Amino acid sequence: MRTGSISKFVEHYKLQVKIEWKTIRNCFILLSRREIVRLRYVAVAQLLLAALDFLGVLLIGFIGTLSVYGIQSRPPNKQTIFILDLLGLEPLSFQNQVAILGLIAGVVLLAKTLVSAMISRRTIFFLANRAASISNRIIEKLIFSNMEQIKRRSRFENMFALTSGVSSITVGVIGTTMNLFADFILILIMFSGLLLIEPTVAISIVFMFGLTAWLLYKLINKRVIYLASEGARFEILGDELLYELLGSYRELFASGLRNIYVQRISVMKRKQASVTANSSFIPLISKYVLEIAFVLGAILFTGIQFIYKDAVGAISSITIFMASAGRIVPAILRIQNAALTFRGATSSASRTLKIIEELNNLDPAIDRGKSQGLNQGPIIASVNLKNVSFTYADGEDSVIKKLSLDIEPGEWVAVVGPSGSGKTTLIDLILGILKPTQGQVSISNVDPELALSFWPGSVTYVPQDSFINNGTIEQNVALGKEITDIDRDRVTECLSLVGLSDLVSKSSKGLKSEVGELGSKLSGGQRQRLGVARALYPKPKLLILDEATSSLDNLSERLIIDCLNSLRGEVTVVSIAHRLSTVVNSDRVIYIEQGRILASGSFNEVRHKVPNFDLQVKLSNAEEKK
Ligand SMILES: Nc1ncnc2c1ncn2[C@@H]1O[C@H](COP(=O)(O)OP(=O)(O)OP(=O)(O)O)[C@@H](O)[C@H]1O
Ligand SMILES: [Mg+2]
Repeated sequence: MRTGSISKFVEHYKLQVKIEWKTIRNCFILLSRREIVRLRYVAVAQLLLAALDFLGVLLIGFIGTLSVYGIQSRPPNKQTIFILDLLGLEPLSFQNQVAILGLIAGVVLLAKTLVSAMISRRTIFFLANRAASISNRIIEKLIFSNMEQIKRRSRFENMFALTSGVSSITVGVIGTTMNLFADFILILIMFSGLLLIEPTVAISIVFMFGLTAWLLYKLINKRVIYLASEGARFEILGDELLYELLGSYRELFASGLRNIYVQRISVMKRKQASVTANSSFIPLISKYVLEIAFVLGAILFTGIQFIYKDAVGAISSITIFMASAGRIVPAILRIQNAALTFRGATSSASRTLKIIEELNNLDPAIDRGKSQGLNQGPIIASVNLKNVSFTYADGEDSVIKKLSLDIEPGEWVAVVGPSGSGKTTLIDLILGILKPTQGQVSISNVDPELALSFWPGSVTYVPQDSFINNGTIEQNVALGKEITDIDRDRVTECLSLVGLSDLVSKSSKGLKSEVGELGSKLSGGQRQRLGVARALYPKPKLLILDEATSSLDNLSERLIIDCLNSLRGEVTVVSIAHRLSTVVNSDRVIYIEQGRILASGSFNEVRHKVPNFDLQVKLSNAEEKK
């Protein structure tokens, strides 16, 4: 994790404290037309559910009115008789009327709850599926873009965009919008209905709860913004320290700094815990304040009703007030919480949306090649660079400058040169991991990326530090193959070629021994040799090695050189090496300095042409004679 990107992240988080409507719109744009239509159906269903809810509340109010008439043994007023008549309940006794009305109200409210639960379940599944497919799409786009795109952001940022960022888009933004819509509609329908039937209840509710909610929002808002950015800051700082501690354990162990790191992490985590606790309490503040408002409001409303109305009118209004407030107050609470969720969600969603946008603008080389309808014969393991220049996106000077190079099939070319001269960049250009700023690179006369997709396994690469995964030896050699597809004889053969047969024979589990998390059970030299075995496994036609023998002792290096010698003529080899024993065996040496080829030819020719290289050889020889 780069410290720079973390501070950028925190900065971003701080700036993104306002709800961004554009972000919300862009989240919905990610959905297909069919999915939008489905969401519209859900919205209509929410509307109908809110209407059902209102009907339930009215029925309860009506039962209240009827009950008061019943208790007073008075005949109901004209309106009540009219409604009873409408429902066909007029001829029944008062008890039966109440029982039937109660039953209808119960069924209506129960049906509403059940349908709501069904819709919620389907929406959750829908959002989870969307999250998975959006994640997949970004992974695909990111991996098939180019290394610069991947490296533009730290590993941490890419991981964040693919995990938390995607769930913020789906569950956080889309899901919360749907919930907000449902609650707004509920409040709106209740309010408009009440305004028509019981205006005093409608106005009292708006006045009491609307005002309380608005005041609460105003009071809490700033604190929420502050806590959200502080929370993110402490979390990232703590994680960064943890990452440093684990990543540079040996250095910190040797310099006695482990304790200091543990203390710093503990301070960060404690601060974060306090922020988290404060944030968790905020929704509860709203809940308690609204509960108090409800109790006080109910007392006030009841008092006023009895002062100004007769018992029937008062009870009817009070029942409707209680029933509708019982629906509206939780909806207000949900809206408040959703607003809080929204803030965090839009902020992290916008980061992922930005990555999606950047990746959408890319046009991968593979697609271009396919559309050209190239003919795919057997690979010719040649490499050609024509006038290639390359500048890193965040760099000013070109790292490779108008470089031309032709490597014949079966040739072994050693690339040498001082540190920082552009050797690794050259390899990345040959592999198509980087695209030239100018000029053309080709493998087998086609774009490298196209060559890799046409002839998978024909080009392999060994970095200085091979990534060892958390599996068995055979899984690491036959990287990416299903266990059932692994050719064990070939694995054994490759291990023997790089001198790792011992590793297998010493262990009781043989090829199936675990190599431990990230190869922690292997030495640096063993890891490098496993990397070479991995590159040999698919029987490549072009083998590219970047400092692949730097950690090896002379004997192990000899083994690798013998192995490369045995491939001579069959396999094209491009190797970067500081160790002269590897260079001296090659067919051609290319000396690179500041992105240009300074000399090319046999080992001795280059020695004569480049004094620096000659000096290096002499120093190295003197070293060996000691
Ligand atoms: N991602 C990057 N962004 C910007 N500049 C970079 C990047 N990677 C490398 N460079 C710069 O490009 C130049 C060449 O780097 P490169 O890794 O190709 O050198 P090298 O010859 O492989 O060196 P070494 O022998 O030390 O591995 C260096 O000056 C380096 O700072
Ligand atoms: Mg390098």
